[in-house]
Order: sequence, then structure tokens, then C-alpha cells
Amino acid sequence: MWEKLQELKLKAEGAINACTDIDALNEQRVALLGKKGEMTAISRGMGALSAEERPKMGQAVNEVKQFIEELLAKKKDELAAAHLQQKLEEERVDVTLPGRPAAAGRRHILSVVQKDMEDIFIGMGYTVVDGPQVELDKYNFELLNLPKEHPARDMQDSFYFSESMLLRTHTSPVQARTMEAAEGKLPVKVISPGVVYRRDDDATHSPMFHQVEGLLIDEHVTLADLKGTLLAFAQQMFGADRQIRLRPSYFPFTEPSVEVDISCFNCGGCGCRLCKGTGWIEILGSGMVHPHVLEMSGYDPEKCTGFAFGMGVERIAMLKYGITDMRLLFDNDVRFLQQF
Ligand code: PHE
Repeated sequence: MWEKLQELKLKAEGAINACTDIDALNEQRVALLGKKGEMTAISRGMGALSAEERPKMGQAVNEVKQFIEELLAKKKDELAAAHLQQKLEEERVDVTLPGRPAAAGRRHILSVVQKDMEDIFIGMGYTVVDGPQVELDKYNFELLNLPKEHPARDMQDSFYFSESMLLRTHTSPVQARTMEAAEGKLPVKVISPGVVYRRDDDATHSPMFHQVEGLLIDEHVTLADLKGTLLAFAQQMFGADRQIRLRPSYFPFTEPSVEVDISCFNCGGCGCRLCKGTGWIEILGSGMVHPHVLEMSGYDPEKCTGFAFGMGVERIAMLKYGITDMRLLFDNDVRFLQQF
């Protein structure tokens, strides 16, 4: 029995040291110390011993048991430490690797241009106001001198909800709304950027587009003030050398009415494809607010005058950034949008 015990001790030492993972170690524990294990088998032989030998052998058995248990515990700690070490190696983060930059969004080119336009007019003392996109016929047409059946309504065919309600065809209804809200007070000095709708759809017209409306009403406002204001705008938007020219035009709500051109920033005025050889590019419609429009919104045309203008944000953006198809602005193709 002694020998068996010594043999087991040696065998256990070898087997435990050879374990390379916790599962193998547990198997060894069962094989050595388990109910059906070798130690139990040896202990069973105790019954056959004499009363003298029994306590000595009992002590020896206990010592070997303790020896094996200590070996198991030591090996278990070793394996756990090695496992942890391995995990730390494997999952190490190399903090010196360059990071992956998060893709940052950006403002849409139309928003950028609209904001630039707003900033220029804010710099001249204008306040930014808003108006509804679903508009009453009264504001979109009637208070702008376009009574029912007026032929000029044809130029701005739109989307109607009912006889009296439509998607606004321009930002000009904000003129009437602003005057109404100002209740005759002077000066009125606002711009109103926003979405407008028309039944148009081609490379340079979209059924939904943006305009910036401008309105100034005060005493002694003249066409010269309008020209100076728009010249200042053109130079800030398109370069300090820009000139503007006014061409007679017609809008029912302004008198006189003018179309405003800027000298071509591409060729400087000598003629190129952008300006179609003329040296000039049309950018907006404007004029002196019609006396009847002033009257309808509670202003006395004998006491005050005003000017108004309306320009397309898409048009300004296309000119400034050389975009040839308006639909690109609404396709949401990031490859296009990322260029700006
Ligand atoms: N509302 C006009 C349009 O959309 C532009 C305009 C605005 C003209 C203000 C004169 C004065 O075409």
C-alpha cells in the first residue's frame, strides 16, 4: 500500500504538471481524488490493515491527498494566469494606430447659399421672416394685384388644394403678410427665404425650388435705393468687380418692374457660354412696390414708397458653383453634394 501511495504521488505530479487547460485539470482531479478515483481505490485497502498500521497509513493517505490538492490548486492558478495573459495579448488595442474618422455630415449646398444670401442682407439691416408654404389665393395673388382671371396668373401655374388655397408660387405673399402685420408702421425691411412651387420641370426648372424675397418700405425710397442694394448684394455674392444692369419688365405687384442682370463673372463681360455671349446674366426680378399693393395692405402710397425683389436660390447656387442641371440639387447623390 505504501508503494501504491508513493506511485500515485509521483504519477499525480506528472499528470497535473502536464495539464494545459482547466478541463484537463478537472479530469485529473476526478481521476485522482474522485469517488471512483485512484485515491479512493487505495483507501479502500485500509480495511485489511492491522490496528497498528491503520492510523499511520491513514495519515500517509491524508498527506498524499493534501499534496495532490495543493498541486491541483497551484496548477489551477497557473492556468488561470496564463489564460488571462493570453487574452490580454490577443485583445490588445494598439492605441498608436491611426483612428477611423467618423464621416461628418455637412450642410446642403442650397442651405449654404441661402445662408450666405441671408447674411448679406442681415448685414444691410434686414430682418429674416418666414411665411407659410400652403398659402391663400388672397396673399399669393389677390393682394399682389393679381385678381382672379388676371392673365399673369398663367405664368405661375401651381398646385391647388381648393379654389382659395394653393402651394405658394413665389415668396411674394410674405410681402403682403408682413405689411399686414406691421399695421402701417415704418420702415418695413425684411427678407423672406423659403420653398415655392410651380408646375415646371426641366434642367433649369424644378416643381419645388427656393426663393429669397426682399421688401423695403419707408419714406422716400427710390429705384436708386433698389439698384444700390442689389449692386451691394451682387458684389458680395459674386465678387467686388460685378456690375448690375436693370431691364424693364413686368410684374403686377411692382411699378416700374425690372429684371436685374449681373455682369458675367466667368468672362468679365466679353461674352462666354455662361452668359450666352451677352456678358450679362439675369439673376432676379424686382421693382417699386405698386401703389395699389401698398394701399391694399394698409400703407398710404402718398406717404411712403418701397421696393421688392425676388431671387431664386437654386439659380444663384448654379451660377456660383457652375452647376448645369438643377435636378442634381435634389437628387441627394452624396458624390455630387460632397464637392461643395
Ligand atoms: N415674385 C416674382 C417671381 O417669383 C419675383 C419678384 C419679387 C418680382 C418681388 C418683383 C418683386 O417671379
